[in-house]
Amino acid sequence: MASASLKLSIALTCALLLSSACHGLQVGYYKKSCPRVEAIVRDEVKKFVYKNAGIGAGLIRMFFHDCFVEGCDASVLLDPTPANPQPEKLSPPNFPSLRGFEAIDAAKDAVEKACPGVVSCADIVAFASRDAAYFLSRMTVKINMPAGRLDGRISNFTEALSNLPPPFFNITQLIGSFAAKGLDTEDMVVLSGAHTIGVSHCSSFVSDRLAVPSDINTALAGILRRQCPANPTAANDPTVHQDVVTPNALDNQYYKNVLAHKVLFTSDAALLTTPATTQMVLDSANIRGLWEDKFKKAMVKMGAIGVKTGNQGEIRRNCRVVNRY
Ligand code: HEM
Ligand SMILES: *[C@@H]1O[C@H](CO)[C@@H](O)[C@H](O)[C@H]1NC(C)=O
Ligand SMILES: *[C@@H]1O[C@H](CO)[C@@H](O)[C@H](O)[C@H]1NC(C)=O
Repeated sequence: MASASLKLSIALTCALLLSSACHGLQVGYYKKSCPRVEAIVRDEVKKFVYKNAGIGAGLIRMFFHDCFVEGCDASVLLDPTPANPQPEKLSPPNFPSLRGFEAIDAAKDAVEKACPGVVSCADIVAFASRDAAYFLSRMTVKINMPAGRLDGRISNFTEALSNLPPPFFNITQLIGSFAAKGLDTEDMVVLSGAHTIGVSHCSSFVSDRLAVPSDINTALAGILRRQCPANPTAANDPTVHQDVVTPNALDNQYYKNVLAHKVLFTSDAALLTTPATTQMVLDSANIRGLWEDKFKKAMVKMGAIGVKTGNQGEIRRNCRVVNRY
């Protein structure tokens, strides 16, 4: 009886607050069980990001790619095995472009030394992306990231393809792809601002942005045509900066680039194809601090997608393989 009424009150609180608490996620979740976990992860991420800012970009993208496929459950980290030869990791949205796996391994190793078997890989991905955002924003984007996620046992190539939006999506498709995960149009516009850092392979934009007429800025198109082959192949697929102005700074420059038509993807340019999203771009470009504030909230919201509870998940010992019993 008591447990039924507790469940009811949690359900009511969730309906009222629509908060991450609904998934059992909490800020400071490991305060008792592993008090130093967030500091340990931050120190590892710091080493990697200061050596190579691109790893920080990879970690922020990894959180997105984890959460959109099977929920935020570290399914993106699972390596191929004879039983599951085609995990998410090998799917085109992730392979060969997704990076930062070694930073997660290092963080997990350090965390396991301090508190074995306590902290999920899904939470390490969430903390690591938060820390990457902190360092790449020169300590301005400080996210209070709730935790308490479990690690999944399913990782499926096809699901990554069908759940992650490709760069040629138009605005309707982008909104639909985020809505399918409980994120609204503004979340989509705000999270796209992560394209203010990192790189893209030429193959992600040459065919729909350079090979055919597009609204891309003429000067940028000229530079990209010199950097990219006309027909990128696996053997010849260079990378270029996403944000040509401040390539390694997590800031609102992305929105200024969108307005100047200096962005790589159809999906970036698509933000100017409806009045509502255009206004959001203008606000994030022009109002100081607005984007950073919205980004923090949207990252937390993204981090609550499809979180697993009870026997749906486990605390993986090694982030690359499911536990054996
Ligand atoms: C709105 C739909 C989105 C599309 C269509 C999209 C697509 C892409 C593509 C095609 C790349 C380049 C991959 C490559 O060729 O190397 C990329 C890179 C990146 N994306 Fe997105 N993305 C989207 C949303 C997001 C979100 C929500 C985040 C994070 C919050 C994000 C963060 C990043 C980052 C940081 C990179 C650079 C990665 C690196 O340098 O390793 N993207 N994205
Ligand atoms: C992966 O997911 C697809 C689509 O949901 C499903 O048809 C397929 O059987 C799954 N593959 C594996 C190996 O479970
Ligand atoms: C977006 O793409 C879909 C699928 O190709 C198409 O049906 C739709 O008309 C397009 N919408 C816009 C706004 O271009």
